Amino acid sequence: MTLQTIVLFCTASLLWWSVEGRQFPNQFKFGVGTSSYQIEGAWNVDGKGESIWDHFTHHHPDMIADRSNGDVACDSYHQWRRDVEMVNELGVDIYRFSIAWARIMPTGLSNQINLKGIEYYDNLINELLENGITPMVTLYHFDLPQKLHDLGGWLTADIVHHFVEYARVVFKTYGDRVRMWTTFNEPWHICENSYGRDGLAPAVNFSGVANYICGHNLLKAHAEAVHLYREQFQSRQHGVIGISLDSRWYEPATESTDDSEASEWALQFHLGWFGHPIFSSTGDYPEYVKKRINALSKDQNFSRSRLPVFTADEINRIKGTADFFGLNTYTTRLVTKNSESNAANYKTPSFEHDSAVIFTVDSSWASAHTSWLKIVPFGLRKLLNWIRKEYGNLPMWVTENGIGTSMGTVDYQRVDYYNGYLDAVLDAIEDGCDVRGYIAWSLMDNFEWRAGYESKFGLFYVDFESPNRTRYAKMSAKVYRRIIESRSIDNSFRPQPDVIILSSDDMYCDKNAFENKACVP
Ligand code: NOJ
Repeated sequence: MTLQTIVLFCTASLLWWSVEGRQFPNQFKFGVGTSSYQIEGAWNVDGKGESIWDHFTHHHPDMIADRSNGDVACDSYHQWRRDVEMVNELGVDIYRFSIAWARIMPTGLSNQINLKGIEYYDNLINELLENGITPMVTLYHFDLPQKLHDLGGWLTADIVHHFVEYARVVFKTYGDRVRMWTTFNEPWHICENSYGRDGLAPAVNFSGVANYICGHNLLKAHAEAVHLYREQFQSRQHGVIGISLDSRWYEPATESTDDSEASEWALQFHLGWFGHPIFSSTGDYPEYVKKRINALSKDQNFSRSRLPVFTADEINRIKGTADFFGLNTYTTRLVTKNSESNAANYKTPSFEHDSAVIFTVDSSWASAHTSWLKIVPFGLRKLLNWIRKEYGNLPMWVTENGIGTSMGTVDYQRVDYYNGYLDAVLDAIEDGCDVRGYIAWSLMDNFEWRAGYESKFGLFYVDFESPNRTRYAKMSAKVYRRIIESRSIDNSFRPQPDVIILSSDDMYCDKNAFENKACVP
């Protein structure tokens, strides 16, 4: 064989391989994420103030599956160098993390700045940049300063001012180095799960009322923080700013028109509640959502709609306040209409009654250890396409996606999950969605809110018994690295993790069993 033939042959095989293996576009970015309360620990160290999660876990340990808290968590307040090393090991472009408001402003108010807290994020950002990693910073990931909650939290109009002042400090301090911002992580959970139900702190549990007030204030706070950035920082700092909205995909339970309508209702109540005001041309809540809550409110003897109404000025302030759409998504539900959801039956207001749909799952969908999480990759593709059609083809980022398992480092299920969901991202890109990047959740096992440490979302295993919270790469970390390097998915790749740990009880499986793929607990 001549050299020329060899070169030709190699080029042809490479071409074939890339078509077969479908490559992620060159400009597509990969990342990995965490959030402050879930990893930092040091809850009262160096002047940090109390957050609603410190308060909630200390006062209601019974509401956390293993009665744990984030007092130490992964100890990232001290282990941040190792965190950056791990981010580096994955070979990702972006590290998404959040700032703990109460770490830099202990009471939440801007008159008092905690320099030690400022220094912590300074160090982290600088270390990331020195390693060529882009920081993507979330301003708010569930951990409101407790003092602001004492003043009424997201239920008061004043919170808008406090959030904007916090944002100003953050942009001023870190904006010379941070080019990617999101204001809020998962407003639906912040308002429905925390104020409508008792799923997250502060567990106000006043659905159909408190959730909508929270949402109203949060949207205004988001918009004002974005205006602040655009008017006073963006032209000098050259960053982009958006928001991470969460949603499941809502698949019609059957092909009936009713079920398709139910799917649309569910999406409008979940994604549209926050998405519509920011991304649609109306700048307001979805029509269906407004009409439905208004009508039910009347029947329930309220003198006005439980869903607050934006003024024309507010609509103009909120419309268009995002440079990109951040999507957090994990799973899918089947949807059908709730035929009993009308005022006669439901005098007590609630988000469920308002949205008038019922959720089920397909029994053929595999389940994660985290029982709410059914593994349905096509849901991600459909969701990205729904956003494209609903709001136009704006730049989209999958800002969270991942799976909770109970296992140690031999995490076949997570490997399959990432392969499947990343393949769905490739499908969506082929459909025409402008998906710019994908951020896996999470860098390491961490405090999974009310599930405590029982549900593990990490690419790295954390030994929570060891003083330094030693971290080890799981099989999935190595798979993710290979995907990033090759820019394609290889379903058969099963690398050996750093150490073989089968479960959190530290059961080890030997090398032979591992090689024969007999390590699944
Ligand atoms: C979304 C939240 O943003 C994150 O904090 C949480 O750990 C994951 N979902 C998994 O439940």
